[in-house]
Amino acid sequence: MNIRYIATHPFSDQKPGTSGLRKKVRIFQQPHYLENFVQCIFDTLPEPAQEDILIIGGDGRYHNRQAIQTILKMAVANGFRHILIGWHGLISTPAMSAQIRKYRALCGIILSASHNPGGPDGDFGVKFNMANGGPAPEKLTHAVYEATCAIQEYRLLECDDIDLDTLGEIQINEARIEIIDTVTNYADFMEHLFDFDAIRALFKSGRFHMLFDAMHAVTGPYAKELLQRRLGAAADTLLNAIPEEDFGGGHPDPNLVHAHKLVERLFGANAPDFGAASDGDGDRNMILGRHLFVTPSDSLAVMAANIHHLPGYRSGLAGVARSMPTSQAVDRVAEALGVECYETPTGWKFFGNLLDAHKITLCGEESFGNGSDHIREKDGLWAVLFWLNLIALRHQPVRKIMHEHWRRFGRHYYSRHDYEEVDSAAAESLMTHLRDQLENLPGRRFGDYQLRSCDDFCYTDPIDNSISEHQGLRFLFEDGSRIVFRLSGTGTRGATLRVYLERYEPDPEKHELDTQKTLNPLIQIAENLARIQHFTARENPSVIT
Ligand code: G1P
Ligand code: ZN
Repeated sequence: MNIRYIATHPFSDQKPGTSGLRKKVRIFQQPHYLENFVQCIFDTLPEPAQEDILIIGGDGRYHNRQAIQTILKMAVANGFRHILIGWHGLISTPAMSAQIRKYRALCGIILSASHNPGGPDGDFGVKFNMANGGPAPEKLTHAVYEATCAIQEYRLLECDDIDLDTLGEIQINEARIEIIDTVTNYADFMEHLFDFDAIRALFKSGRFHMLFDAMHAVTGPYAKELLQRRLGAAADTLLNAIPEEDFGGGHPDPNLVHAHKLVERLFGANAPDFGAASDGDGDRNMILGRHLFVTPSDSLAVMAANIHHLPGYRSGLAGVARSMPTSQAVDRVAEALGVECYETPTGWKFFGNLLDAHKITLCGEESFGNGSDHIREKDGLWAVLFWLNLIALRHQPVRKIMHEHWRRFGRHYYSRHDYEEVDSAAAESLMTHLRDQLENLPGRRFGDYQLRSCDDFCYTDPIDNSISEHQGLRFLFEDGSRIVFRLSGTGTRGATLRVYLERYEPDPEKHELDTQKTLNPLIQIAENLARIQHFTARENPSVIT
């Protein structure tokens, strides 16, 4: 085998964030940059045995194909003898998790920067997932980072690029490379979880119309197979279903701002009954009813309250989990059902241990992510199928489902305000300013709101007792309202401040209020506490969801 040992030097900026290593494409295009990080992943993993499988795929963004060729050659040079690659280089993040579990792979490498824009001036990313199908835990990502600070050499096989567009097997020296159809595999898997007959009947009735916006990202082919081919949705159901390297110039994040065309359709005249969208790598989802936005936190709560109706979940819930900033709507459902609700730091990796230990069946984040124990990532199309299944079984529109839910459990008005690309030092100063006040604030009154407690969230994993500190500043008020501040761990430029606002409303007469107006007193309190305008020099958030 013609393996080259290539001399390199460490890059000082290869510390993985909330979700792998994310940088501008141009940074990844520097000589040795991608190679260093990938070699450090291989050096940190156990030496592959003959039968160990590695899976490689990405969300199709610019640089995906080149990166796959490089990683493949490095993987063979590092001893992998069986490598699976997504057809055309594509594998959505949830499909990757499902494939790792299906093929019992040792590890998967995902090329994606999730919902960040793509193209030559956009973002790129590398994330690696472990044998359980989930993102590598912090212990491992730290070890990879340490390795990146010392690396001197990487290994690369000298061979031609392979054809990513033809399904089947290729032999490179002793290594077997398979190009696999993850769309069919993923769709087969979904058929076991949901009542496809019921959903098919819903579409067949002709009285139900939906729109799904794939945002020119990876879910296009999956949605086509599932919604149109297997479930019989109308031909005009899919928007932006062809994956493009720059996501059609858009920002593939399924929220009210970036998926605004879909939102306008759902809030316009002759709106369809149901709307949904997914992000760059297919793990996020947005759910819309006619003239209604379902917050991801509410979506999680509705799922928890209804999951036992679905074929894949007949035994009900073992427990649920939500990330700390996610609204407490699901806590109320868990309480009513008598199951445990875990509060974890932001990032899907913290759900992995709870899922593996069968402590939870369902989990979610306010950032448009829901998922279950079927895999170890959040899953966009899974959430869409969940809602379709629910609508089909209950014979109710989204609005009715939400209203009944709120009547039973109360409504958690919820919003997140993001201040993007602010000066990093200024953002740190804002957090320090808040941290310095933590001790003195409890008991203070802010208008109608009395502060009960505040802290810097620290999580002890109940399974392996690992401790994760500084996971966001929480301000809890006597009436159950909350304000949370944290800095994003996924950005690639400056810092992003996230302010999470939540207010609980038990009175059904007050369940149709405007969210931002309802939260306005808390928005003012957040400004008072953090002096956001002063530190960020911004009058308004850049994104409100
Ligand atoms: C963001 C979200 C977080 C999610 C992550 C990956 O991270 O807030 O919930 O797990 O993207 O999709 P952040 O930028 O806030 O660190
Ligand atoms: Zn994503």
